[in-house]
Amino acid sequence: MSELAASAPAKINLSLDILGRREDGYHELRTVMQTLGLADVVRVQLDASSPGVTVAGPFAEGVPADESNLTWQAAEELTKRTGKSIGQLHVHLTKHIPAAGGLGGGASDAATTLRLLQQAWGASDADVLAAALAAGSDEPFFLRGGTALVEGRGERVTPLPALPWHAVVLFVPRTTLDRKTASLFTAVDQTPYDTGAATEKLLARQPGQLRARDVSNGFERVAFDTFPGLGALRNAVEKTIGEPVRLAGAGPALFWLGPEDDAGTIADASRNLPCTVIRTATVEGPWAP
Ligand code: C5P
Repeated sequence: MSELAASAPAKINLSLDILGRREDGYHELRTVMQTLGLADVVRVQLDASSPGVTVAGPFAEGVPADESNLTWQAAEELTKRTGKSIGQLHVHLTKHIPAAGGLGGGASDAATTLRLLQQAWGASDADVLAAALAAGSDEPFFLRGGTALVEGRGERVTPLPALPWHAVVLFVPRTTLDRKTASLFTAVDQTPYDTGAATEKLLARQPGQLRARDVSNGFERVAFDTFPGLGALRNAVEKTIGEPVRLAGAGPALFWLGPEDDAGTIADASRNLPCTVIRTATVEGPWAP
């Protein structure tokens, strides 16, 4: 049996500037992304008698266990470019990252699948990058992970010096939205766009020590009015832990981060909040040299 496995980390955005809407309908971004220790596990089997996708683990619920899964779509994109056959591929995901929270789990699984297939098939970096972007805008970042400046719609990834270790606590509500990311971008279109200054300010102090108050996210302008109950949850979390929290990507997950190991105290204090609380930390990308 020929099988490869790797972990697929979650991410947060340390800044996220939405600069404007492009002619192709996507939005021009300037964002600093950071991978976390919280990770799914991706296993790809290359000689499977039953091809397809299976999903297990604590956050498997709601993740498609069929060919609509982003990992399968990414693999198909790579086969289009390499001429390899997808016929005996089986992708098995163990989900530790809550789905649709803004933590990038689906994109990370897809990018990790591509990296594993690259190892197996010897595909070029250019083909892997093209397949990643065809699967979704966050996928190019996850090909390497770590700390990176991400621009364009997600296709321009510039590695940054690794952020020093930071503790992170995630607060993940159950609230969801249909076509979440597209809906949030549409709401942002009704507001003035970001100038990019927040990302500039963050870059000027990299690699430094950060707290959640140093983090900014252009989606916050609309997210607390768009996700039912999210504004109230943020208030409850901030009151409970006595510090600000920020939105992860397009949300609705919230996070606290800090350079000291306060995650245990913060997670304990948050036990009774109406959300899933997950302790983790920042990490360099699993693929980083
Ligand atoms: O690329 P991805 O499939 O992750 O994007 C989901 C949706 O989010 C897109 O269809 C698009 O509406 C929106 N999007 C955007 N600008 C980006 C990334 C995503 O408008 N940079």
